[in-house]
Amino acid sequence: MIALAPSILSADFARLGEDVAAVAAAGADRLHVDVMDGHFVPNITIGPVVVHALRRATRLPLQVHLMITEPDRYLDAFAEAGASALIVHVEAAVHLHRTLARIAELGVRAGVALNPATPVHALEEVLSDVDLVLVMTVDPGFGGQTLIPATLAKVRRVRGLLDARRARAELQVDGGVDHETAPRVVEAGARVLVAGSAIFEHPDGARAGLARLRASVVA
Ligand code: DX5
Ligand code: ZN
Repeated sequence: MIALAPSILSADFARLGEDVAAVAAAGADRLHVDVMDGHFVPNITIGPVVVHALRRATRLPLQVHLMITEPDRYLDAFAEAGASALIVHVEAAVHLHRTLARIAELGVRAGVALNPATPVHALEEVLSDVDLVLVMTVDPGFGGQTLIPATLAKVRRVRGLLDARRARAELQVDGGVDHETAPRVVEAGARVLVAGSAIFEHPDGARAGLARLRASVVA
């Protein structure tokens, strides 16, 4: 079963609770929360106060994607706000092993994200400390971008590494996932699909967007 994680980056922030309720009712498996700091990526989004508000608004697991420099400074705050998983970029975490150990101490799932230009081997020394791997299929910073085709082969290589090492980490993809690209990333080995615009910007609403995406990956 493929899990779907709507990214609230494409939701209507003035109606966030309603949008989240809509995807929860439509069968979303978790929520993906994009945190951007204007340094690691050009865009600025949200912080722990919004995660805290989401925690009270939904029972869905909150997977917080930290697109920020110095992620160590904010791990405790996001965990206290109610994050279920904290995903850090390998490019931003100078002492990645220590960062993952801290996330585990905080009692939340530990995830690592790889930018499109970051090689798969960046994962190799930390695989046993990781609950999920997020392969970026666009350069992070904005919703609504087109999936970079070369990243499909990379998803396949990460799948191969996880299988070869019998790693427990769950493989997620993020960026440009819609009903056309979803079957290809699943075929490449992804088990969790993050999608923002394909769900929240569907002309018939988020429920229809989620159903469309679900239908594309059900055999
Ligand atoms: C991009 C974010 C993604 C984004 C995906 O920097 O990490 O989670 O919301 O949006 P779509 O699905 O529209 O590409
Ligand atoms: Zn994301």
